[in-house]
Amino acid sequence: MLPVLRVSGLNKSFVMHAQGGLALRVLEDVALSVAPGECLALVGPSGAGKSTLLRSLYGNYRPQTGSIRIRHREAWVELANAEPRTTLDVRRHTLGFVSQFLRVIPRVATVDVVAEPMLRLGATPEQARDRAQFLLSLLGIPERLRQLPPATFSGGEQQRVNIARSLIADYPVLLLDEPTASLDVANRDGVIDLIRQRREAGAAIVGIFHDTAVRDALATRLHNVALPGAQA
Ligand SMILES: Nc1ncnc2c1ncn2[C@@H]1O[C@H](COP(=O)(O)OP(=O)(O)O)[C@@H](O)[C@H]1O
Ligand SMILES: [Mg+2]
Repeated sequence: MLPVLRVSGLNKSFVMHAQGGLALRVLEDVALSVAPGECLALVGPSGAGKSTLLRSLYGNYRPQTGSIRIRHREAWVELANAEPRTTLDVRRHTLGFVSQFLRVIPRVATVDVVAEPMLRLGATPEQARDRAQFLLSLLGIPERLRQLPPATFSGGEQQRVNIARSLIADYPVLLLDEPTASLDVANRDGVIDLIRQRREAGAAIVGIFHDTAVRDALATRLHNVALPGAQA
């Protein structure tokens, strides 16, 4: 399978304005590519730059130099210096992100929070709600909670809502930042199954998995991440 995500020569520094403009180099000349059906696990100690890399791939951080190309609507799109509306279109159709934390949407029922990405892709409200209910039940969110906004849910419940919302649209490329971080074992296994199904259906995945059991269950390849100058 040909890659659908190609990264090369990626450099990212954070400029610390409070420290007189000191630059903290985090990513140096990063290169990787991921094909459909692959799950590339980013491996490295805390602070090595794994989340920075993932956020750069999603367009949350703008790298100083380098290329992030993604297959989008049957063409290659350069994300490293894309216009905001291009980034948004890629996120709507092609690129999903599961972060550790849910950006809580106040006063919207959980089932609608989850259904929204599928609605925006043109599904009917029934289709989107049915699929949302299915994912939420698979992830163990009880029916009585699904009509409530997720704002008051526990960390683990919010994380599962976040995962359901990020997986409902069947994005061809998925970025996962510790998707099981605050889950107990039973819910963790449900999430592993869902992500594995997406991989087997041909999603190209880049993930950070703190838990080595989760990594072993999902990763098809490892990619080491280290701060510039750090010992390997
Ligand atoms: N927005 C930011 N501004 C400044 N420094 C940051 C920012 N985000 C991350 N860093 C720094 O970059 C380094 C890598 O962080 P991170 O990518 O979160 O590591 P990891 O996910 O591998 O634990 C850390 O030293 C962190 O403090
Ligand atoms: Mg991190």
